[in-house]
Amino acid sequence: MVRLFLTLSPAIPRFNLYPGTSILATNPSLRLQKHLKLRTKTPNFSLISPSSSPNFQRTRFYSTGTRIYSLPNSENSNFDDNLVVLGIETSCDDTAAAVVRGNGEILSQVISSQAELLAQYGGVAPKQAEEAHSRVIDKVVQDALDRASLTEKDLSAVAVTIGPGLSLCLRVGVRKARSVAGNFSLPIVGVHHMEAHALVARLVEQELSFPFMALLISGGHNLLVLAHKLGQYTQLGTTVDDAIGEAFDKTAKWLGLDMRRSGGPAVEQLALEGDAKSVKFNVPMKYHKDCNFSYAGLKTQVRLAIEAKEIDAKCPVSSATNEDRRNRADIAASFQRVAVLHLEEKCERAIDWALELEPSIKHMVVSGGVASNKYVRLRLNNIVENKNLKLVCPPPSLCTDNGVMVAWTGLEHFRVGRYDPPPPATEPDDFVYDLRPRWPLGEEYAKGRSKARSMRTARIHPSLTSIIRADSLQQQT
Ligand code: KG4
Ligand code: ZN
Repeated sequence: MVRLFLTLSPAIPRFNLYPGTSILATNPSLRLQKHLKLRTKTPNFSLISPSSSPNFQRTRFYSTGTRIYSLPNSENSNFDDNLVVLGIETSCDDTAAAVVRGNGEILSQVISSQAELLAQYGGVAPKQAEEAHSRVIDKVVQDALDRASLTEKDLSAVAVTIGPGLSLCLRVGVRKARSVAGNFSLPIVGVHHMEAHALVARLVEQELSFPFMALLISGGHNLLVLAHKLGQYTQLGTTVDDAIGEAFDKTAKWLGLDMRRSGGPAVEQLALEGDAKSVKFNVPMKYHKDCNFSYAGLKTQVRLAIEAKEIDAKCPVSSATNEDRRNRADIAASFQRVAVLHLEEKCERAIDWALELEPSIKHMVVSGGVASNKYVRLRLNNIVENKNLKLVCPPPSLCTDNGVMVAWTGLEHFRVGRYDPPPPATEPDDFVYDLRPRWPLGEEYAKGRSKARSMRTARIHPSLTSIIRADSLQQQT
């Protein structure tokens, strides 16, 4: 299948097809009738609860004109070109929306990032992030529709991230998604943020079918999963403390780097000037024969190295002396090398485990914000090729948080009948939304359980996989 990158906006047929039918409907109430008639399942995803607080803060808007045409394989779905889904993402610090068509065509993609807030707080501050989402959400969604040359009436469904993430932030996206879906009688799909990072690779790579492996690396997660089917994942490894993105962000902050594009890109850039073998950092968890990660210790090693070189984070790297700049670059490069070595070691083992469980695996997906790092991609490509697999890494704009991945994952679930019916047009102010801030993706692989694990387990939602399995069992009985 050919993949095309275009910049023009093709006309979209003004009708919607519902899963498993070829009924055309333009009128929302007609669509609702069809929807109610066709729907046979209990909703898997009940969403959402209110709150908002406008205030003004400068944000940066951008959107790509990129369109990706592809027809990924899927065992149980008809890749219906005429489905059009709006995806909304507000789980962390990016307010994103996109419109994607059933054939994988990206009709629009809009992101408002909280660059100034990131720089000001050196990380994501939930309350300020929530306020920033609330200020821009309407505009981001409207821009996504306008750039796709569509209105809400042209949509087949609305997809929105319901977890994991910051509750305050998730709520803004969910409230908006429910308001669009409610006003235009559209079905709604609740999306798992990490599943979306993994599945967007299926939009990009047409050969990528289940089962496949995925390494998902972001600010809050370090996950190694085996994807058996849509919604069914085995978690081979996770972090026992911090994720790699958090380690990049703290390293950037302590090195006095410009955080406006988040810490990772700043460390990656400075690392190009440094000697990656000059500072001796230990690779974490070298003697743990599992697939789990730990970045808290490496963060401490970096902090101590920075203190030893008397680097002053308050002095921006742009104003540093040559020697000071070289010291910072050496630390950035040495940190990046060891942080990625840790990924490499665990991925090698995880591939062996995954092939024992699913010998037909051909691909390994690497996605999430940190996967946009060129050094990460290069090193992991070597590991994956040595194991005779193919690496699938979405382009950087689809690795970091975006609305496309949410729209696409919504499409995948919508096609197989996993969605909620349209919510009422108006909901009470005290309506309690179903938000899942701590929501595992898959079931833990017994062999992979870490003895070093110190993660809190309270208030964790049942995993996506366990919910989907329970639902399938219920359908069968
Ligand atoms: O997936 P993502 O956009 O948001 C979360 O779900 O967390 O990932 C954000 C993380 C941040 O920690 C950011 O510093 C990191 O991804 N990141 C990078 C790069 N670009 C983004 N880390 C290393 N190198 C990069 N080029
Ligand atoms: Zn993410």
